[in-house]
Amino acid sequence: MVITTTELIKRFLTTVNRENKTIGLVPTMGFLHKGHLSLIKKAKEENDLVVVSIFVNPTQFGPNEDFETYPRDILNDTNLAYKAGADIIFNPNVCDLYPEGSNTWVNVEGDITKVLCGASRPTHFRGVTTVVNMLFNIVQPDRAYFGQKDAQQVAVLTKMVNDLHMNVELVVCPIVRESDGLAMSSRNSYLSEEERAQAVVLNEALQLAGKSYKDGERNVVALIQLIEIKIATMPLAEIDYVSIYSYPTLAQIENIVGTAIIAVAVKFGKTRLIDNEILK
Ligand code: PAF
Repeated sequence: MVITTTELIKRFLTTVNRENKTIGLVPTMGFLHKGHLSLIKKAKEENDLVVVSIFVNPTQFGPNEDFETYPRDILNDTNLAYKAGADIIFNPNVCDLYPEGSNTWVNVEGDITKVLCGASRPTHFRGVTTVVNMLFNIVQPDRAYFGQKDAQQVAVLTKMVNDLHMNVELVVCPIVRESDGLAMSSRNSYLSEEERAQAVVLNEALQLAGKSYKDGERNVVALIQLIEIKIATMPLAEIDYVSIYSYPTLAQIENIVGTAIIAVAVKFGKTRLIDNEILK
């Protein structure tokens, strides 16, 4: 069933016997790939009812970003989501979630939203936390599913859920990769053939650093340098950031002691790709 308004989905979900049924929510911006489908499958295993939201959220895009051109294919998405186990597709329009005059934000303060993607996309996480909050309020899921590829988003949403004592369990699923190691992303569809071939360097560089970490390297500057040198071998790659922080707090560190994240963002032409590796 595809439901396109908040009013209808709220009405539908109140008629479901909530006492006996668990609801899993998979929030997406559509153009579904195997990464999204793995979240839907996991949600199906763990819940009675799976709601997949498909909504390209304008407030998480900056003024010069790709909101208008973000890939959209609702028909294909609907088919893929059903096959993976979705029961309800929630596909609202912008005016429904953000009616005229709507100007309330949910914002996680502090470095956690200012470093990494927050540095080059200063209003991004405010848009994410606000829309995810709305979806939680509308669907009232028992569990919500997110991919580890967006590791900072996971850290920020976990903080939001904890800080606001929200009654939902966040389930984080592993990164799904193409056969050559490139992390699945809807934005991969923007890449030219040459850019696509060079984009494997993100994962290769992370693997290199991961190996060096396993061999005993703990110094953040040394590991970052290793990654930067590897990425620089690809002429079309333009580094936005290569960083290592403690995870999930995203606090600055000089040497890796506890759990840490190596996070990279690299531009190929106009396409900005992210990837990460958690070091435990
Ligand atoms: O990860 C995404 O696709 C988006 O940030 C999300 C969580 C659906 C919010 O718009």
